[in-house]
Amino acid sequence: MKTIFSGIKPTGTVTLGNYIGAMKHFVNLQDEHDAYYCIVDLHSITVEIDRVELMNNTRALAALYIASGLDPEKATIFVQSEVKAHAQLGWMLTCLSGMGELERMTQYKDKSQGKDRIGAGLFVYPTLMAADILLYDAELVPVGDDQKQHIELTRDLAQRFNSRYYETFKMPEPVIAETGARIMSLTTPEKKMSKTDTNPKGYISMLDAPDVIRKKIKSAVTDSEGIVRFDREQKPGVSNLLEIYSLLADIPIKELEAKYDGLNYGVFKADVAEVIVAELEPIQQRYYDLIDSEELDLILDQGRDKADLVASRKLAKVEKAMGLQRKR
Ligand code: TYM
Repeated sequence: MKTIFSGIKPTGTVTLGNYIGAMKHFVNLQDEHDAYYCIVDLHSITVEIDRVELMNNTRALAALYIASGLDPEKATIFVQSEVKAHAQLGWMLTCLSGMGELERMTQYKDKSQGKDRIGAGLFVYPTLMAADILLYDAELVPVGDDQKQHIELTRDLAQRFNSRYYETFKMPEPVIAETGARIMSLTTPEKKMSKTDTNPKGYISMLDAPDVIRKKIKSAVTDSEGIVRFDREQKPGVSNLLEIYSLLADIPIKELEAKYDGLNYGVFKADVAEVIVAELEPIQQRYYDLIDSEELDLILDQGRDKADLVASRKLAKVEKAMGLQRKR
């Protein structure tokens, strides 16, 4: 049994990319491991976000975690800002990190590009993420491809801390699946599907109604070849749809290529849409049952208490190691 930590930002809507790249793995890993799954709201304020929207998103993401199959009996589900040690360790790790290594983070470069004003929070974001992981001695961190560099930085910071002070942190490993770790946008399949995309046609939201899903898949960008085959370079749109289909229906891509041999994109796309609808409909039903329930609050209260116990203990060790104590 290993310790797992992962999180999703309650910024915007949760997409099919988040589900395939992260949430589905969260569910698979909870049976055999000690898992902590966090709604990382402190990460959401690194960019400007309306306070009511953030509160709503936080609750919605918690409900989606559970509706997607996370079991509070097996995994600890909690809201990051409710466990104060995250922000505290985040600061300590910020002090341990260098401007140069933070400037190298590609996600920071992407998100700050072309902006007049770049928030300092966006810049130090990866040190908070490192704190999330290290507080729980997480050994495995299931994420999509875009978070790999942040986990490498987490390892560097853990190593630096351990050698500068004393052995305090465990080295986490990313868990990144071979397929589905980078689901692409439906409108620009060279870019990843993102919850902050300004064009909603680019992503499938976990809460999109069946007809919206059908429309979005129907208008997904493909190519003019007319053959359903996997080729990420030449046919990013079709390959993305094949990957989604394969992962949700659990059918190898080769078999799908054979199944649609000689058939047009219209038939293929209609089936992709049905596979997505079949996966999301039951999740949405559970979501609507949970969203206004007291049960959801009880789960989050319990999760917070358990996480807080573990995180506070670790934080006390870090404070001691760094000399953040009065001499007595
Ligand atoms: P976030 O909120 O952007 O995304 C949550 C998870 O979804 C994955 N993901 C994708 N996977 C496949 N295809 C896509 N198109 C796609 N888009 C997103 C992300 O890789 C991620 O695993 N910094 C993190 C949140 C975080 C975190 C942590 C993660 C904060 N602290 C500690 C792990 C451990 C983020 O912004 O993820």
